[in-house]
Amino acid sequence: MENLLVTGGAGFIGVNFIRYLLTETGFKGRVINVDKLTYAGNPESLEGIDKRFSDRYEFIKADICDREKLARVFDEHDVDSVCNFAAESHVDRSIVSAEDFIKTNILGTYTLLELARERADRIRLFHHISTDEVFGDLDAGGYSAEDAPYRPNSPYSASKASSNHLVRAYYKTYGLPVTISNCSNNYGPFQFPEKLIPLMLLNALEGKPLPVYGDGMNVRDWLYVHDHCAAVKTILDKESVGETYNIGGGNEITNIRVVEMICDILDEILGRLPDGKSRRDLITLVADRPGHDRRYAIDWRKINSELGWRPSESFESGLRKTIDWYLNNKTWVDRVRSSEYRRWINMHYG
Ligand code: NAD
Ligand code: TYD
Repeated sequence: MENLLVTGGAGFIGVNFIRYLLTETGFKGRVINVDKLTYAGNPESLEGIDKRFSDRYEFIKADICDREKLARVFDEHDVDSVCNFAAESHVDRSIVSAEDFIKTNILGTYTLLELARERADRIRLFHHISTDEVFGDLDAGGYSAEDAPYRPNSPYSASKASSNHLVRAYYKTYGLPVTISNCSNNYGPFQFPEKLIPLMLLNALEGKPLPVYGDGMNVRDWLYVHDHCAAVKTILDKESVGETYNIGGGNEITNIRVVEMICDILDEILGRLPDGKSRRDLITLVADRPGHDRRYAIDWRKINSELGWRPSESFESGLRKTIDWYLNNKTWVDRVRSSEYRRWINMHYG
């Protein structure tokens, strides 16, 4: 793998992956990071990487649906592998409007698959990043293995399920060398503060209400982003063409418990709020999300037994690292939340 195209590399997981790949593994190739820079993309998250690896890292602002531009990227950079992180990723936004999800997650993946198929002699691997949400809601006690039926319930998960089907079809029909991974909920540094953990953390810091949907008893399996990056690298190295792997954190926790833990750790580090109240008092149960899946839980024994990967972070240790990172990176938080900064990005990156 010499010239790896990483799509969505300015987003939460992509940024962590590129940092991990270039600084913590023996990867010797080049990374071409293609990202449209939506509200969720921030190339400044790779500050330092661009300078330190100027001969092996390049950022290109582009939409994965733009076939002509992407064709030039494939050819000018002699792309031999693809790792597709690019997506619209927030369930609540997909409920308000699904259009961008259909375009990027389905048509964008299709465009990349076509470009890879046209260059079949050069492509070693097309790895597609997906989600456990394709398996839908699970009753207490059940786990979805890789071959479980897809039952997506939100426009987001339906668009990701569609993209997975397309990736699989390009393997079966055209022999494109693909792999797919479905991971559980990630958390860690550089996550845009609209997802549960960074949103609650920052609201709790600012003494704002912590809006927990429904009764707060929905369960997610939390995966520290660094563990996820290590799993993806393991899959890329193994090149087990045609295989799908589930990647889970082994941390099934209710939303209310997650928010309570964030409050307790912040109270411990910073002391209680100025009025003497615990941050737990900020928790507010609000109207439920439509179609809100009660529980996700994946069976990730395959990647463990076949590739030897397992998560190294417990939820408590990962959460403490995440909280430390947000406390120490207020500039990043201010920047990604500022519309002025977004305007600057759009001007600067064209
Ligand atoms: P994110 O929203 O933080 O980042 C997505 C990135 O993709 C952004 O940089 C955005 O600018 C870019 N992008 C969006 N549309 C694009 C387009 N048309 N062309 C090029 N770039 C585009 O998302 P994330 O949390 O980093 O998720 C990365 C991948 O992992 C996604 O495929 C997502 O479905 C999957 N995933 C995420 C989680 C999670 O908990 N975050 C869990 C399971 C799966
Ligand atoms: P989220 O981070 O949006 O990830 P996903 O929907 O992909 O699992 O939400 C995680 C869980 O937290 C989910 O059950 C919805 C819930 N949630 C809240 O209760 N309040 C919130 O403000 C948000 C953003 C999420």
